[in-house]
Amino acid sequence: MADAEVSNKRVILKQFVTGFPTEDDMELVTATVRLAVPAGSASVMVKNLYVACDPYMRNRMSEHNDAAYIEQFVPGEVLGIFGVSKVVASGHPDFKVGDLVWGMTGCEEYSVITHPESLFKINHPELPLSYYTGVLGMPGVTAYAGFFDVSKPKKGDYVFVSAASGAVGQLVGQLAKIAGCYVVGSAGSDEKVSLLKTKFGFDDAFNYKKEQDLNATLKRCFPLGIDIYFENVGGAMLDAVLLNMRMHGRIAVCGMISQYNLEKPDGAPNLFCLVAKRIRMEGFMVLDYFNTYTKFEKEMAGYLKEGKIIFVEDVVEGIEKVPAALIGLFSGRNVGKQLVIIARE
Ligand SMILES: NC(=O)c1ccc[n+]([C@@H]2O[C@H](COP(=O)([O-])OP(=O)(O)OC[C@H]3O[C@@H](n4cnc5c(N)ncnc54)[C@H](OP(=O)(O)O)[C@@H]3O)[C@@H](O)[C@H]2O)c1
Repeated sequence: MADAEVSNKRVILKQFVTGFPTEDDMELVTATVRLAVPAGSASVMVKNLYVACDPYMRNRMSEHNDAAYIEQFVPGEVLGIFGVSKVVASGHPDFKVGDLVWGMTGCEEYSVITHPESLFKINHPELPLSYYTGVLGMPGVTAYAGFFDVSKPKKGDYVFVSAASGAVGQLVGQLAKIAGCYVVGSAGSDEKVSLLKTKFGFDDAFNYKKEQDLNATLKRCFPLGIDIYFENVGGAMLDAVLLNMRMHGRIAVCGMISQYNLEKPDGAPNLFCLVAKRIRMEGFMVLDYFNTYTKFEKEMAGYLKEGKIIFVEDVVEGIEKVPAALIGLFSGRNVGKQLVIIARE
């Protein structure tokens, strides 16, 4: 099999996107690839097993301006994507054929990784491999770092999480319970709200699409106010939260998914609450925490094995399903971490 030439299905970006992405912005094409790395190179070739659909990918689909925080995709080229993969050829001394890894790969069946130092070895193959696109991968590190390092929780804090049933949100809620906090989540369907309360142990939850007045909803859920807001959505929710924060509250700005497809982002008229209530509002990027991965993986794997954390995934199978799965994030079609099975080992 080694050195064989095989077909390689891949998803490319057809053109830069403005507004809401559609399946037509991407295309499935078939190329061929040799299962080998060039002699003398330190690259590895991987077979991709699972890929993760993540909201940040929308930003990479736009032609970039000053607000860009991550490299744009190149039209006609394969999408970069987080995935779980198996090494099929290696020129790098730290990787051997058969190793299981996770990290940035291509949205295709086989990828050459030219800087394999960016990959993480999978140390808990006894747990579901797909977890390395979620709870044990990038979204897990995001939830852990954003909650503990940025939000600085104390036992008894009142915590609010938006997009709470998603990959990051479901973990933040459960970590907040482990930390002894009171946690409320918002999500976009009654099914998701029920999941938050019955499966993830949130103290309360609401369907933001059914609420007429978010300020009144938050007052109802937090009569004493919010100490920590884990921000995933931005827009009207952020503005209502600002009115309900307590003195010296913390807002960990993880993302603002409601803004990613807007040509003119919303403002936040209530921003002055930061001054009056001495609130600390701080953005963060998961990339800055990847150096803490070993410690994180050990702790999170422990929680999973002890049943202290559970993780819900939304799984579809087949590389051709990636475009629909990816755009589904922006209408809330996913329930839990959206991932796509590319190959079963
Ligand atoms: N800072 C970082 O390094 C970092 C890393 C990873 C993720 N993030 C951010 O974290 C957030 C959550 O990411 P995730 O991976 O956990 O995604 P996710 O929650 O699994 O999926 C996205 C969810 O966002 C909600 N949503 C979509 N459009 C919305 C809108 N207009 N208003 C309100 N909610 C909307 C939908 O749920 P509903 O049905 O509840 O609406 C959807 O299911 C995103 O903002 C993402 O960009 C940041």
